[in-house]
Amino acid sequence: MLHYYVLFLLFSIGFADPQSGLILVNSDDSAKESDVNVEVTKNAGSSIDDEDLEVFQPTAEWQTIQPGQGIPPGLHVRMNLQTGQKEAKLMDGDDGSKYQSNKDSKQKFITIDKNVISKQHLKEALKDFRDKFHDESPPGESSDQLNSHMDAKKNFRSIEDIRKELEGADIFVKKDIEIIKKHVETLNSTSSSLPEKEHALDELEFYVHQIDNAIDLDTIGGLTLVIKLMNSTDPSLVRRATYVLGSATQSNPNVQQAALKQGALPLLLRLLSNQDNMAVRKKAMYALSSLIRLFPMAQREFLKLNGLEIFKMLFEETGSGALAVKAITLMTDILTEQIQHVKALLEKQGKDTSGDISGRVPLLKTMAEKGWCQLVPSLLHTTENDTREKVLQALHVMVEGCKSEFQQPRVHDSLNKLKLQWLKDANRKEGHEDPEYVTILAQLVTDLISKLT
Ligand SMILES: *[C@@H]1O[C@H](CO)[C@@H](O)[C@H](O)[C@H]1NC(C)=O
Ligand SMILES: *[C@@H]1O[C@H](CO)[C@@H](O)[C@H](O)[C@H]1NC(C)=O
Ligand SMILES: *[C@@H]1O[C@H](CO)[C@@H](O)[C@H](O)[C@H]1NC(C)=O
Repeated sequence: MLHYYVLFLLFSIGFADPQSGLILVNSDDSAKESDVNVEVTKNAGSSIDDEDLEVFQPTAEWQTIQPGQGIPPGLHVRMNLQTGQKEAKLMDGDDGSKYQSNKDSKQKFITIDKNVISKQHLKEALKDFRDKFHDESPPGESSDQLNSHMDAKKNFRSIEDIRKELEGADIFVKKDIEIIKKHVETLNSTSSSLPEKEHALDELEFYVHQIDNAIDLDTIGGLTLVIKLMNSTDPSLVRRATYVLGSATQSNPNVQQAALKQGALPLLLRLLSNQDNMAVRKKAMYALSSLIRLFPMAQREFLKLNGLEIFKMLFEETGSGALAVKAITLMTDILTEQIQHVKALLEKQGKDTSGDISGRVPLLKTMAEKGWCQLVPSLLHTTENDTREKVLQALHVMVEGCKSEFQQPRVHDSLNKLKLQWLKDANRKEGHEDPEYVTILAQLVTDLISKLT
């Protein structure tokens, strides 16, 4: 069955002050492709200061919504994707009396329940939307279906196009910076309640995925507040603030620098080592890896602050297996990054890169000094194949700095055992494990053994 994508816009009404969120849902009813359903929700507390706008009076017929014009909640609204015009009418079965009775009052539009739309939903919906567009060509589809599928694609255009159109219409979209400022004010105000602060952080987490938004957050002093909240005594604020920091610093050098300067790194290490709250620790691991990836200065700081000792604790502690695997993965990535960096540097200087460069790789050097050449191979004893895979990848990048340790008979034996088992399983047709995955594992361990001999 052909799926139609209906764009639901959920936004709040405030005449000169609309806030908007955008929800895409996948609907398989037979709505026209060009329909955009808009539902209007909350905007408790925003001021109405534009008296000049005509109130939209809905009827059973489609009517064009003027740019900047507020519309009451509960209407069926669509956007004509050809013209970019927005139109609205009453929902089927709605006689419109509730709008008529308030004909001369704008107040009705802001007395709606506060209906908070999680930006997480939007993120997921957008992702889902993109995935569906990419994935949805099942094999064996008849050419008819395929053609109408292509038509649908054409009619829908890209989500970027739609967003652009929406941004052109100020009724729908408030500038991100205004929204960010508002949430920062909420975080800064002593009169904000806990749920209000939680909500502000959840919203910010959405906005800071955009690089410019994260930079703005720092510019207006919001990053400082977020870091302060990571240091608060309320675990729910700590977890959310840490999540915001992770998303704001991810692939964002400016914000990485700002966060490092403002003391985020020692705080993250403290959160990671506090065994009381796993949810907080997971976010701390996420934020730590966002903060130090591709950021050599933070990586040095991490080593200086004994970050590796905290990671070691994760391996010794029971029940922190998931964190330990994340730690191994992060170390593998950073080692890879540092090794590439050193090699590029040597090449630029016209020097030989085939020799042992491990002494020039800060993380590898420190790991070798602190016993990680023994520690990491011991993790192969787990029965989790996923963990074994991550450990093998780590061993691959560590091999130069740890050759003599990895050549110990104990390590060599466990590698060989894994190799034999995986080769056997890869050749067996039946079994629960995905045979291709087992083949990859077998290849990984075989390569490693050949590097050691
Ligand atoms: C927080 O509030 C104080 C005064 O109450 C003000 O000085 C400061 O600039 C505010 N910070 C931010 C980031 O808005
Ligand atoms: C966190 O709080 C402690 C004291 O409670 C303080 O010494 C430290 O500087 C704070 N860290 C940050 C980054 O604000
Ligand atoms: C790991 O993979 C092997 C196949 O080589 C399989 O027999 C074993 O059950 C898997 N272990 C787990 C915990 O899934």
